[in-house]
Amino acid sequence: MLTTPKLKTLQELIAGSTKEELIWLSGYLAGVVAQTNGQPALPVLAAATAQEPDVPAKPAVSKITIAYGTETGNSKKLATDFATRAKKRGINAKVVGLEQYRLTDLSKEEYFFTVISTQGDGEPPAAAKKFYDHLYKGGLQLGQLKYSVLALGDTSYPLFCKAGEDVDQQLQLMGGQRIVSLQKCDTDFETEAGSWFDQVLQKLISNPAAAPSAPAVVTRKTTGKKIYAGTILSNINLNDIGSGKQTYHLEIAAEAEYQPGDSIGITPENPAEIVEAILSLTGVDPARTLIFREEQLSVDHLLRKKLNIVFLPERVVKKYAAIVGQDIPGTKIGLLDLLKIYPVKDITQFQEVIGILEPIAPRLYSISSSPEAHGGEIHITVAKDTFVVNGETKHGLCSDALSQLSPDQTLDFYVHKNSQFKLPEQDRDVIMIGPGTGIAPFRSFLAERDATGASGRNWLFFGDQHFTTDFLYQTEIQNWLETGVLTKINTAFSRDQQEKVYVQHKMQKQATELYGWLEAGAYVYICGAKEPMSVDVENVLLGIIRQEGKKNAAQAESYLDELRTSGRYVKDVY
Ligand SMILES: Cc1cc2nc3c(=O)[nH]c(=O)nc-3n(C[C@H](O)[C@H](O)[C@H](O)COP(=O)(O)OP(=O)(O)OC[C@H]3O[C@@H](n4cnc5c(N)ncnc54)[C@H](O)[C@@H]3O)c2cc1C
Ligand SMILES: Cc1cc2nc3c(=O)[nH]c(=O)nc-3n(C[C@H](O)[C@H](O)[C@H](O)COP(=O)(O)O)c2cc1C
Repeated sequence: MLTTPKLKTLQELIAGSTKEELIWLSGYLAGVVAQTNGQPALPVLAAATAQEPDVPAKPAVSKITIAYGTETGNSKKLATDFATRAKKRGINAKVVGLEQYRLTDLSKEEYFFTVISTQGDGEPPAAAKKFYDHLYKGGLQLGQLKYSVLALGDTSYPLFCKAGEDVDQQLQLMGGQRIVSLQKCDTDFETEAGSWFDQVLQKLISNPAAAPSAPAVVTRKTTGKKIYAGTILSNINLNDIGSGKQTYHLEIAAEAEYQPGDSIGITPENPAEIVEAILSLTGVDPARTLIFREEQLSVDHLLRKKLNIVFLPERVVKKYAAIVGQDIPGTKIGLLDLLKIYPVKDITQFQEVIGILEPIAPRLYSISSSPEAHGGEIHITVAKDTFVVNGETKHGLCSDALSQLSPDQTLDFYVHKNSQFKLPEQDRDVIMIGPGTGIAPFRSFLAERDATGASGRNWLFFGDQHFTTDFLYQTEIQNWLETGVLTKINTAFSRDQQEKVYVQHKMQKQATELYGWLEAGAYVYICGAKEPMSVDVENVLLGIIRQEGKKNAAQAESYLDELRTSGRYVKDVY
């Protein structure tokens, strides 16, 4: 029990804290309790930032597995750093990508650490999907397992570090013993990841069997992203008259640091007419301030710049239904329509609705310029997203806004690094498969290789609907072919003949030569639509390896796995 003065201090602290702060506090206290183990309580961070000892003590644990699930390489880098630190302390650490991890090994593991990011709308990275699904299959008995999870994410997304949370929870449900609490990290993850490594290593060195850690979570609420204010230099539609598509090439003046293969992230604003309609429908004072994720902002600012209102996920619609006390069928709907069809009863109820809304998620666009060739500029290639709802043609929020930008307007963005999708050494060959906007990073690759005089061969597979209207960057590509920067190109214009022809069909036709390039050490890159394109391309690639390499299915899989592990087979698909 607490003495009266201590209790009073605690009550004051609680009264002055937001819900988020209280969640943080409860996690923090659980972490402190888990670490004390009979000792006087030390702040979590004091233990976490302890320096490495000069002479490593003999660790109580000698062997661990560190498995990472990554999309853009951050988790892999951290897993490798963690292993290096463990090895310095005399612990034999095996690092493995979750895509390579043998699922049957899990029930044999004793000390198992996962570093995993979250992708999509709260999903695991594609490479970790099999592992993730395996945890949900049920029937696993992991009573022998001691584990901890480091989760990477971005607080700008609605479901912060969801995949890491899920893995942490499932491992515990299957009997695993959590030895250090889940650590959720924002995009500036170095400090928190370093603290987590230290906490885990301290446990492994001293007493891993000590009291299990609570599922405490220490989160940071600010993203450490560097936001650049770019100025639009030009914005042109790359498709010709008569095309069924609109793909915009934007040139942006900005002194941002990036490498070919990186993307930029943009958080779009909501259309003014929707915001105004919501304000007038509800009668709420636009200047009224509310707290959203620890920031005090006006309703007007929240609706314009912070909250996703255009197209709500089903989980938000469910919460809305609970607030207004109505049955709302699972439907694709925006806030304005919800308010029209299922009105709130007053402003207080509307404020409650604001509380359940999620932040506008950033959208990524592959950079299509090269730092060497286009100094001081960033180019992107944006397909205007068009879809039909109830017979009405609509456009995607961000791509529509980008398509309308004019020279001299400004655009805020951040650079999203991708340490996996990178050009190899100058003398290595590359095979680039990028239909549609998938061409974007390959324009960057080719411009970079041109500007740096790289000697490796370059082979491009490009495709779209029609040759005459949809051959994006045709003139530049033809120039690169003429000057020899581009060694070879194969195009597939799907709708120029009766039967559909896609890039994978062109790859199949080039099977012998393509396999020859692979055998000569070429790197393979795929960019563009995740489904069905990247799946079909991968299947054809496997077929080519089987056919040309005279391998069976398992041998072809392991050939591709080897390419993947050595960084010679990379995808950036969406
Ligand atoms: C690593 C990466 C790189 C990328 N690179 C590129 C690139 O180089 N070029 C490019 O063009 N894109 C790229 N993208 C895709 C891009 O980030 C966006 O996802 C895309 O532009 C669509 O965003 P949007 O805001 O325009 O559409 P959103 O508004 O997000 O809409 C997306 C989809 O949601 C549904 N939807 C939205 N609103 C409604 C509604 N009211 N009713 C019903 N359904 C609705 C529709 O199915 C729609 O197609 C990339 C993505 C990733 C992850
Ligand atoms: C398309 C996309 C979707 C993302 N979705 C989420 C998300 O839902 N929740 C989250 O916390 N982070 C999300 N992130 C952020 C990543 O988890 C974060 O950038 C992380 O550092 C990536 O680590 P990795 O390189 O190991 O994949 C998303 C990133 C991208 C590119």
